Amino acid sequence: MSARIIPVEPFDLVVFGGTGDLARRKLLPGLYHRDQDRQIPGTSRIIAVSRHEIGRGAYLDEVRAALEAHVPAKEREPEAVERFLRRLDHVALDIEGDAGWDQLRAAIERTPNEVRVFYLATSPDLFGPVCDRLQTFGMVTPKARVVIEKPIGRDLESARRINEAVGHVFEEEQIFRIDHYLGKESVQNLLALRFANSLFEPLWNAHHIDHVQITVAENLGVEGRGGYYDRSGALRDMVQNHILQLLCLVAMEPPQELGADSLRDEKLKVLKALNPIRREADVAAKTVRGQYTAGAANGQAVPGYLDEIKRNASQTETFCVLKAEVDNWRWAGVPFYLRTGKRLPERVSEVVIQFKAVPHSIFGDASRQIVANRLVVRLQPDEAVKLFLMSKDPGPGGMRLKNVPLNLAYSETFQDRYPDAYERLLMDVVRGNPALFMRKDEVEAAWGWIEPILEGWEARAEPPRTYVAGSWGPSAAIALIERDGRTWHEDAA
Ligand code: BG6
Repeated sequence: MSARIIPVEPFDLVVFGGTGDLARRKLLPGLYHRDQDRQIPGTSRIIAVSRHEIGRGAYLDEVRAALEAHVPAKEREPEAVERFLRRLDHVALDIEGDAGWDQLRAAIERTPNEVRVFYLATSPDLFGPVCDRLQTFGMVTPKARVVIEKPIGRDLESARRINEAVGHVFEEEQIFRIDHYLGKESVQNLLALRFANSLFEPLWNAHHIDHVQITVAENLGVEGRGGYYDRSGALRDMVQNHILQLLCLVAMEPPQELGADSLRDEKLKVLKALNPIRREADVAAKTVRGQYTAGAANGQAVPGYLDEIKRNASQTETFCVLKAEVDNWRWAGVPFYLRTGKRLPERVSEVVIQFKAVPHSIFGDASRQIVANRLVVRLQPDEAVKLFLMSKDPGPGGMRLKNVPLNLAYSETFQDRYPDAYERLLMDVVRGNPALFMRKDEVEAAWGWIEPILEGWEARAEPPRTYVAGSWGPSAAIALIERDGRTWHEDAA
């Protein structure tokens, strides 16, 4: 089990949308693991809220089924499962009406001085109404916190509206805007890599880095989330939040310390320094959007996006590539190529730091074999840090050079199971530590950069380019980087 468990205070966690997909797939399995590790103190309770009355017994059956589906059998200890189930309850309530709110209050009133976490795993339109009701029914105590899931709006204005509505009831320190990428071990390792080693920092700038690639590829399609996804698309679903957060961690200046504000101040500066992609010519040259058609995944035929969402037409992108530029002293002239999509050949997320070529080669004919150094941080799956270096190919035959990786594979180096992103982030909420959550101004700055791209796409009125499911997106995505004389990283070893 995980190496070190830092205890948290007793808490009550109320999950709105408590019978939904996120609760079943991530929140409940995550909480089970924390409880199994004895991190959740004795009296803490978890109360799921949903619209329909189902009764506690039926709800517990649902949770049992969720744990069976989403916790590996070897981690499901009967005694730990039963202990976890004893913490759970269910309350039916009508978010926009009055029914059920008194029952919810009664359920948490018994512990007025404990930490209370309200987790809103609902549609963002309900964030404001839920917060209002929590206030009206007197549930917002000084130790209350609210967690809101993405998408926080669909553009700058709607994000501001949500921030305002939630901020009307909760202080900024009580608001936890979750981006689960920030809870991933490998994402936090970007901080360790950059700031716990003296090796990289002197090279981490435009003098030594040619460009950066950030890829978050998925091989799944939209998986029954077509209703949400078709209103969102890859840019809103993945880039506005997860990918821009990764970019910030790669590009930010060293924060003074790991405190929430130091870290978020530095990320905000990066978001503000992003060069706007606004003019039509920039939208055309620096972005590509795609939508998958029928193809294959894992050797099986799979339908195209339109068939999956059961519509005849849609302008929604399931893939996009952007060429971002951070306009500051450190990064002037260094492009950040961002790429994400569904139904790509594999599930892989990685950050690639491409260093510049050596200034002069002493190797004569073998010079052609020299490849510029590359640092690849594999975020998932098979977390690893690989530094590609030129080495002498051993043996006779003169000086032959070979590009080989120094490979730090997590699975070989660290044996323990480590907590999933949601587990860690939920415990951070209970502790009141917002460092790995997005501040209001960050969310708004990210929308501020994304919005002109969305507008540009709309103005050009060009449908997304098609790509066959199981391929690396439309050919224009390859052309975009190749026009600059560069190529997408393909793992060489
Ligand atoms: C979510 C997106 O935020 O992240 C999904 O809404 C996406 O569309 C998911 O599939 C990817 O998360 P992970 O942790 O599997 O990379």
